[in-house]
Parts: sequence; C-alpha cells; structure tokens
Amino acid sequence: MELRRLGKSDIDSIIELEKHHAPDKPHYARYDQEALSFIFDNPESCEAIGLFDEEILVGWGAYRTNWSKYNKERGVFEISSIVVNTDYRRKGLGEKILNRIIEDLKKKKFTKIYLTVSPLNTGALLLYVKNGFVIFDYKPNVYGPGADRVFLELKS
Ligand SMILES: CC(C)(COP(=O)(O)OP(=O)(O)OC[C@H]1O[C@@H](n2cnc3c(N)ncnc32)[C@H](O)[C@@H]1OP(=O)(O)O)[C@@H](O)C(=O)NCCC(=O)NCCS
Repeated sequence: MELRRLGKSDIDSIIELEKHHAPDKPHYARYDQEALSFIFDNPESCEAIGLFDEEILVGWGAYRTNWSKYNKERGVFEISSIVVNTDYRRKGLGEKILNRIIEDLKKKKFTKIYLTVSPLNTGALLLYVKNGFVIFDYKPNVYGPGADRVFLELKS
C-alpha cells in the first residue's frame, strides 16, 4: 500500500471510487469532475491524497482551506472527503489516510482542522472520534431539508 498526492490524471479513478464505494453519499458531499478539477486547479487551497494497492486507487481523502468566502481564517483546514473501497474497509486504511492528512497539515501549521459529517454516518463519526476529533456543533438542514451535519474538530 502506498500513500501519495493525487493529481488531475487521477480524476477518473477518484470518480470510480466514489461511484462504486460511496454510492450512498448525499448529493452535497459528492465529488464530480468539476469539484475534482477545482481541487487540482487550486493547489494553494486544496490537496488530495490517494492510497494505492499496486496501481489501484483503494482510498482517497481531501482537504481545503480558504476555498470559499465562508472560510477565510488563516490556518483553518476542512477535511472534505475520505472514502475507502468497501473490500478494504475495517483494516485501518481510513485512519491511515486521515493521519497522513493531519501530518501534512501539521507541516502547514494549522490552527484548526475541522470537518462535517451526517449524524447518520456512524462509521465515519467513530473513525474521527477515535482519532482525536470532538463534536463542537450540530446544524439541522444545512444542505436542505433533513441534510443535518455534525461539526467535528481535532482537539489540540
Ligand atoms: C468511513 C470510512 C472512510 C472508514 O474507512 P475504513 O478504512 O473502514 O476505516 P478504518 O478501518 O480506518 O476504521 C478506523 C476506526 O473507525 C471506526 N469505524 C470505521 N468504520 C466503521 C463502521 N462501519 N462501523 C463502526 N465503526 C467504524 C472504528 O472505530 C475503526 O476502528 P476498529 O476497526 O479498530 O474498530 C469508510 O467506511 C467509507 O469510505 N465510507 C463511505 C464514505 C464516507 O462516508 N466517508 C466519510 C465522510 S466523507
């Protein structure tokens, strides 16, 4: 297994991973060609990390900072996605991607790392809490009726 930074040439593999291994993801959390192009066109604000088994992409994660008018605080990073191929789950690979992202952000001297997740996504919530994140907010209907979000940040 190898972790490495992803680039534009990985977009099709990421879309395949998202389509086949995170089909239940709600519309507002989906990554399509446009959202992925944005990541790779804005390397000063966004980065994506892939986990490869041989040359097959079996997991990926992304983070961003200063990417919208709502997030202009220096050193504040949002983890925007982590997906692991269903055949590879519960082997610590989600943790591996998450911890690589945290290590990268330590080098960038983060002041805050946060993310949001559906309150129904128990597996993801447990992954983040197990790895040092704490819940600091909950907002109903963030992305439309019923699309509630739990906000978590890495505790210092
Ligand atoms: C969430 C996800 C990334 C976890 O990936 P993973 O590789 O299976 O996670 P790990 O094996 O590293 O799990 C680490 C810990 O997280 C928790 N966890 C992860 N998935 C879990 C599940 N389905 N149920 C309960 N706990 C879970 C456990 O505490 C686990 O430790 P343990 O196996 O020692 O008990 C994966 O299920 C996934 O891709 N889901 C679909 C996409 C998604 O919802 N992403 C998150 C929001 S963007």
